[in-house]
Amino acid sequence: MEKERFNNLIKEKLGNINLIVVSNREPIAHEYVGKKIKAVKSIGGLTIALEPIMRNLHGTWIAYGGGSADKVVSDGNGKIKLPEGEESYTLKRIFLTKNDLNEYYYGYANSVLWPLCHTVYVKPVFNSNQFLSYNEVNKKFADSIIEEIKESNNANGDNGAAVLENVVWLQDYHLARCAKYLKEYDENIKTSIFWHIPWPNPEIFSVCPEKMKLLEGLLANDLIGFQIIYHCQNFLRACEWELEAQVNWADYSVTYKGHKTKVMPFPISVDANYLNHLAKSEDVDKIIDNIQKNDEIIEPSYEFLAVSVDRLDYTKGIIEKLTAIDRLLENHPELQGKFVFVQFGVLSRVHIDAYKKFNDDISGLINNINWKYRTSDWYPIVRYFKQLDLEVYLAYYRLCNVMIVSPLHDGMNLVSKEYIMSDTDYNGMLILSRFAGASKEMYDALLVNPFDTECFAKKIYNGLFMSREEKERRISKMQNIIMENDIYDWAYNFLTALYLI
Ligand code: F6P
Repeated sequence: MEKERFNNLIKEKLGNINLIVVSNREPIAHEYVGKKIKAVKSIGGLTIALEPIMRNLHGTWIAYGGGSADKVVSDGNGKIKLPEGEESYTLKRIFLTKNDLNEYYYGYANSVLWPLCHTVYVKPVFNSNQFLSYNEVNKKFADSIIEEIKESNNANGDNGAAVLENVVWLQDYHLARCAKYLKEYDENIKTSIFWHIPWPNPEIFSVCPEKMKLLEGLLANDLIGFQIIYHCQNFLRACEWELEAQVNWADYSVTYKGHKTKVMPFPISVDANYLNHLAKSEDVDKIIDNIQKNDEIIEPSYEFLAVSVDRLDYTKGIIEKLTAIDRLLENHPELQGKFVFVQFGVLSRVHIDAYKKFNDDISGLINNINWKYRTSDWYPIVRYFKQLDLEVYLAYYRLCNVMIVSPLHDGMNLVSKEYIMSDTDYNGMLILSRFAGASKEMYDALLVNPFDTECFAKKIYNGLFMSREEKERRISKMQNIIMENDIYDWAYNFLTALYLI
């Protein structure tokens, strides 16, 4: 959907709502770099997807202010107009304590809910104190939303304007308990949540000691969105199993304690037109030119290039991918000296032991594989773990012969969609895990089970040697699918579904 069409439709249909979007992660953090303050864009899928939406909706976005200079640049209420120069929406920052972060973010959200929902054989570490803190932080977010609603109601009352309908759109697994507190304050606040990560099957979910509280918190929402229908079904089954709530399978709704919640799939997407144009821009052409003349990241020369961009997380299948690359080079010695794989990424959640161990494991494996095949002027695997500008990633997307996206389990995975929109020369092919939500739409990619090393290696080989015609046929088909459901369609579909409730 074109940006302008989105804006018009939203104005026409949802012109009289006060929309508050709420997430843990803020879209832009202000950080001290020496004595200067720098605005740093967050890199996660959630913030990248929602930022263009908020720039067009002009609403309020409430999030945790984690940047070292966030307090200094915000007003007394934690508010700042963003992005700089455009000032199209308001970010209202909530400041959390170190203890909140340890117990709520590193603790319950990322040591319990993250592994539980991703089903990737990293055991959730349950800890009831962390849940108490998770709950408290959810209440803090709810208090901040309520304060915002009161302010907006008063401002409209003072102007003599009609009071707008208050609509809250919570984001992700950090905020499962928030709606409950909003509804306790005022049951007329329209409350919704989009769950960006998978929802596990009922057997996996049943081991969680706080399962009832999580379900009850979520069912306070009027609408719950998941990425794909399978996650909706898992959630509905959990409601039947655990709460014996009344589930209506005909219209995908749950009635619990007299309140009805709709549960629907909304596959998240990217700003397709923007990416497609940016990938073809002069800026990206120049970067490609520089890379071809003097690549500052990839030292060994190559004939075939494979690329991945992942946040360094144990759900992303990085170990399985490296193992498949090792197998590819074993099975095809003719590629030795000619094939290079670059793993881009940034470190993530490094205060959690499972992540520290994972980072060590990746480094160890990369060293071993490089040592196994290394010659005097070539080695197969390059890692680059610093954040780069989007334009640089797009340049490598255009240059590579295969892009590998191989999570063990992923709600959607927006990198795969970003890549498809930027493969403007049809030079490369996407190798995509069947266990990423994106595989339900991107079925023309080469789909892999990342646990099946032999097959995974074969698919990489097939991607490298696929004809240009075949690549063009598959990639353009996937580009059309993304164009049909881009980030504006996603937001529009969610908000209109909420509006119709
Ligand atoms: O959906 C999961 C998600 O919120 C993604 O948007 C993002 O990739 C990741 O988690 C970000 O995690 P964090 O905010 O912990 O860095």
